[in-house]
Amino acid sequence: MAIPSQVSSSQQNVTPENLQQQPPKESLQKNPLPLLGVNIDHVATLRQARGVSYPSPLAAALLCEKAGADGITIHLREDRRHIQDTDVYEIAEQLTTRLNLEMAATTEMLAIACEVQPFWVCLVPEKRAELTTEGGLDVARQKVWLTDYIDKLHNAGIKVSLFIDPNETQIKAAVACQADAIELHTGAYAEMGLAGNIEGQRAELQRIKQAVSIAQHADNKLLINAGHGLTRDNVSAIAQIDGIYELNIGHALVADAVFVGLAQAVTMMKAAMYQ
Ligand code: PXP
Repeated sequence: MAIPSQVSSSQQNVTPENLQQQPPKESLQKNPLPLLGVNIDHVATLRQARGVSYPSPLAAALLCEKAGADGITIHLREDRRHIQDTDVYEIAEQLTTRLNLEMAATTEMLAIACEVQPFWVCLVPEKRAELTTEGGLDVARQKVWLTDYIDKLHNAGIKVSLFIDPNETQIKAAVACQADAIELHTGAYAEMGLAGNIEGQRAELQRIKQAVSIAQHADNKLLINAGHGLTRDNVSAIAQIDGIYELNIGHALVADAVFVGLAQAVTMMKAAMYQ
């Protein structure tokens, strides 16, 4: 397998003009099989651990695309612990699939998103001390702020997804805020499996299936994504749920890549999804 050359993380040559030259934003159709969005945050985690310029998240994104990823997700956290602003601009400029920019619903992030114009923004809650995104966004409690925030992103031509727990209150609030998609948090489902609690995992799977059904009835144009904690061992039950549009997977896929390389890890994850 060819190893991609490290791509410079310089932000030179990135202008608002060439950022506009992204691929056409075709209309979204529901798929019989879910798409795979690869989250490459942890390629940046490895780089930041040494404070050097490699491995390059941009090179990783391009390699994942070549290997069959349907989109790339990056989370620009407020504390910049992994993905940096330069990564966002470079990846947005060079990606040929869709960029999903995960971010907190803050004023700072709104300005960045409007400049970068990713295909998707996924709004997530953020706590400084957390290891990863711990729970879903409490949309119901921030309806007014989020409705206005989503409106601003829509005005910039960006589609918006909300990362929520699989419960009816949050789904209905997401629809009321005019979100284009929801991403159902699969963390509890994954954790039950890791703890060997098969009954608990079955119950969480049921909760996710019910949430998909509620979302479909609430708004039949709403796209339904899912993610968090998905691995080759637990992904197929989620991928098989009728109505799931895309799965976003990061940590387990990058962990696989340590042993088999990124391209093979993407291939293996897709095989596990569609088995
Ligand atoms: N979806 C969202 C909204 C996330 O915040 C994350 C973690 O960054 C993921 C999916 C991917 O989770 P994991 O890294 O556990 O696959």
